[in-house]
Amino acid sequence: MVRGLFITLEGLDGSGKTTQIKRLAAWMQRRALPVTMTRQPGGTPLGDRIREILLDPVSTGVAPLTEMTLMFADRAQCIAQVIRPALETGQCVLCDRFTDSTEAYQGGGRELGSEVVLDLHRLVCGNLQPDLTLLLLPSLEVSLGRARSRNRRVAEKTGQDEGRFEQEQDAFYRRVWQKYREIAAREPERVVPIEGNLSVDEVHEQIVEAVAEKLLAMAGNQ
Ligand code: TYD
Repeated sequence: MVRGLFITLEGLDGSGKTTQIKRLAAWMQRRALPVTMTRQPGGTPLGDRIREILLDPVSTGVAPLTEMTLMFADRAQCIAQVIRPALETGQCVLCDRFTDSTEAYQGGGRELGSEVVLDLHRLVCGNLQPDLTLLLLPSLEVSLGRARSRNRRVAEKTGQDEGRFEQEQDAFYRRVWQKYREIAAREPERVVPIEGNLSVDEVHEQIVEAVAEKLLAMAGNQ
């Protein structure tokens, strides 16, 4: 059995990942590619409980190291329960956020640095690397504006507030943004940055182009 393709989507809150991951999944399904979609934090029953703790604004005073290790606890569960089994049975896995988020948010935003995140990734995730990471980087202002208004809408509608991160100051997000750019520069083979304030269709086109290229390269290597 050939291992499936492991694709992650990354970006700031409000960068449009969720819309794009759904469109990409539909594109792949139309081509008869078996797809498993998941997300972090969350993606497993245990992960959903960790997600609740992490995103609830009521969780105040969470130490950065606690936040980081909870993200990894969630990820370890998702790898064991969802990602590895799917890849091993030839499924393509589309994952909304992975370790680049921890490097950007906890390493950059919370200023823990990259090293500790990458060390933990080796220990806890067996250094599992995505084959392709699509990094959505519209401007900081556009992302944050969208994320904060979406969060208000969802909180009003469902009574469920996942806005602990959206309450962070712009300086935090500037560090996250910077760290994402650093990761993209460090790993150009894996990370495809999609920058600028593009339309949903334009972003989708760029995503599909990068995925098609990766699928062709994988087929060529078999
Ligand atoms: P997500 O639900 O993907 O938010 P959005 O749809 O707004 O992009 O992720 C929830 C939040 O968790 C988001 O603010 C980023 C944060 N996060 C981290 O800080 N570290 C991590 O390792 C992960 C996976 C997410």
